[in-house]
Amino acid sequence: MLVIDSPSELREAIKQLKQQGKAISFIPTMGNLHSGHIELVKQGQKVAPITVVSIFVNPMQFNNADDLNNYPKTLKADCQALQAAGVDIVFTPSSEVIYPNGLAAQTYVEVPGLSDCLEGELRPGHFRGMSTIVNKLFNLVQPDYACFGEKDFQQLAIVKQMVADMAMPIEIIPVATVREASGLAMSSRNNKLSEEEKLTAPLLAKVMNKLGDDVINNTTQHSLLIHDACRELETGGFDTDAIHIVDVSTLQAVTSETKQAVILMAAFLGATRLIDNKVVTLN
Ligand code: PAF
Repeated sequence: MLVIDSPSELREAIKQLKQQGKAISFIPTMGNLHSGHIELVKQGQKVAPITVVSIFVNPMQFNNADDLNNYPKTLKADCQALQAAGVDIVFTPSSEVIYPNGLAAQTYVEVPGLSDCLEGELRPGHFRGMSTIVNKLFNLVQPDYACFGEKDFQQLAIVKQMVADMAMPIEIIPVATVREASGLAMSSRNNKLSEEEKLTAPLLAKVMNKLGDDVINNTTQHSLLIHDACRELETGGFDTDAIHIVDVSTLQAVTSETKQAVILMAAFLGATRLIDNKVVTLN
């Protein structure tokens, strides 16, 4: 496995692979890898002989300097896990290399509409930073395929839109959320939970699944179902941040035309914000 931190070396390695006619799948990450990331790698390996993973904690997508500074950095363990998974190239650029003129001077990419609602409303600039780095990494890696987890549902929708709008020759592969046996969605943030919080955390998926069943069975108005779900989470020890039920393709309010909706959950357990989502087909 090659570990490369310079864009010019990466370009050279990619050029050689392209000359050999090898297809490339790409998994962008911010490191602190868990089984969910390894699943992205496995899906990438199914579609292309070469897998490239990037590890870059992107300052442009953080709203809060503390979050950025406290983001766990586990490069050695990450590289070991990627080597064991059979990854071909790991790209680990520094912030100076990616943003040589600083963040304020960086050209950016913004997907309108999908970036402004939901998480985008709570974290202004987050999706602009995300789409800018994904775009830049796509230009460096030039992949044929790129794998993104369904856990970050809005991120996946934005990346798909960006690729379509900019006519990028990349197939985006959505990968189902990997869960603990308890149902808890895998996330780097789970490492921040205390032992007690780890016992409570699976309630988020449990409440979401019940909400999903109620939406499918059309038991009552969505606002009332959301109200009940909040109460259940809060009784269990969560502090609900947001629960939305929106149209899967527009991420806007469900209408009579909506065939599939997505339930988006975000709730704090202590200081840790957990997210999850579930797509439901409406009758
Ligand atoms: O999902 C993430 O880890 C990040 O948003 C990504 C896609 C690697 C871009 O920094």
